[in-house]
Amino acid sequence: MKSESEITSVLPWQDFSAEDDFKVWRETKICACKQLSELPPVKMDSLMSCTASARNELIARCEIANYALYQVREAEKTVEADCEALAGFARGLGFSLPEDHRSAGEWGVVALHTSSASSKNGYIPYTTRPLNWHTDGYYNPGSSPVKSFILHCHRPSEMGGENQLADPEAVYLRMREENPDFVRALMHPEAMTIPENREPDGSLRPASVGPVFFADDVSGRLQMRFTARSRSIEWRRDATTKKATEWLIDWLQGDDPLIRNIRLDPGQGIVCNNVLHNRTGFGNGTDLGSTRVMLRVRFHERLREDRHGTT
Ligand SMILES: [Fe+2]
Repeated sequence: MKSESEITSVLPWQDFSAEDDFKVWRETKICACKQLSELPPVKMDSLMSCTASARNELIARCEIANYALYQVREAEKTVEADCEALAGFARGLGFSLPEDHRSAGEWGVVALHTSSASSKNGYIPYTTRPLNWHTDGYYNPGSSPVKSFILHCHRPSEMGGENQLADPEAVYLRMREENPDFVRALMHPEAMTIPENREPDGSLRPASVGPVFFADDVSGRLQMRFTARSRSIEWRRDATTKKATEWLIDWLQGDDPLIRNIRLDPGQGIVCNNVLHNRTGFGNGTDLGSTRVMLRVRFHERLREDRHGTT
């Protein structure tokens, strides 16, 4: 008999004729994701001492739900030490080079916190404002999509700062239930355009044109590129595309149990295949040492799926 992860990881999602396969996959996926959402985070002593069993558990959970939560018992004291530890943790999971990001430090990790630095002016991640639903790097060129990231809590905010997560395959599942034509419309290679823009740091980002749903070139699994922003975005001029995006934005605002609500505590984090996520606004304390600090490292590859039973 096939395992849950064998079933959830092999759907020929671009083939709409395989309705029986879809039904089996849908039921297995809903059941497995519900079970995972009831489990505590994967425990580790520290990021630097992730055991083989913890690693395999993270990979197994990601195979099913495209994300996994973890908790370390001993958090690093400084942001710099946590960045180094996070880079080592990522390497242990099999990730190679992190994305080359303008704000990444020596370890390829970006420390997200409120900042008055001119290079970060205008970037919402560096403010206390809410972040709308998006996948990371939705504005990247098609040649360098962000396919995974790790988000690690170094220090939470005093209030707010909660996240919601939505597995792209759960989005696909609900959208195909609603109307398969919506999925087809968002698979179109020109479904979503982020126009060329002068970035807050002065650089020119070229227009990014591509699909919302696309296949990972290595595994074939579904990846997603999406933002719920309503300005500086051009959807393909097509009635079905319009209905599909309206349906999706509406669904994301609902309370489907496949959408996960979390608030990361110190030492907790998410490993994921670039799931959709948002963030509520938050409030910091008054002194510098109480500022919310989240560490983020992104990759152009998915988390490996072939390491069960290895060390
Ligand atoms: Fe993000």
